Amino acid sequence: MKIQLKPSTVLAPLPAVIVTCGDQTENNAITLAWVGTVNSEPPVVSISVRYSRHSLSLIERTGEFTVNLIPSSLIRELDGCGVVSGRDCDKFDRMGLTRKNGVNVACPYIAESPAVIECKVIKRVDLGTHAVFFGEVVGVLAEEDCIKNGRIAIDRLVVYNNGRYLEAGDTIGTYGFTAKERKS
Ligand SMILES: Cc1cc2nc3c(=O)[nH]c(=O)nc-3n(C[C@H](O)[C@H](O)[C@H](O)COP(=O)(O)O)c2cc1C
Repeated sequence: MKIQLKPSTVLAPLPAVIVTCGDQTENNAITLAWVGTVNSEPPVVSISVRYSRHSLSLIERTGEFTVNLIPSSLIRELDGCGVVSGRDCDKFDRMGLTRKNGVNVACPYIAESPAVIECKVIKRVDLGTHAVFFGEVVGVLAEEDCIKNGRIAIDRLVVYNNGRYLEAGDTIGTYGFTAKERKS
């Protein structure tokens, strides 16, 4: 028998990423797990940022951000950018992360990340606790060894599950495998 719980978002695990924002003069890095894929043509992703975050005003001011994918080798940096505010320190320096000039946006990205999604904000929706920014993808930058058959494939990405970091692991199926089974 199922027990009814208080309404909450529940969805987990979620990919945990570091989003960068700002421009070459003032910039910041923030860890986010409330990140989503929302449209294909044009490609659009969403990020949910609590009103109290320092990053919010930077994203609002420049209308740009980058989503930096994080493998488990960068787990300390991921956590670190999520527990201190850019109001109090320079998180790039503190976490030993390297700023690299964006190609399609003025916002710097994280050189150590194997794959980066450059975004321009096309819409902001204000909800009770978070502002949701929809970012049209204007560029994707990836290390050569992360590209397989024209797609980005990073092993050991970090996913966040109710306070725990997990490593995305074994392949247990491939897209459409059940349809292929039916045909044979
Ligand atoms: C794993 C993890 C996931 C997080 N996800 C979010 C999120 O989706 N939205 C958000 O507003 N804050 C999230 N945070 C909290 C922010 O990263 C944190 O408050 C950060 O210090 C804010 O930085 P800023 O003030 O420099 O913008 C998350 C933190 C961690 C560690």
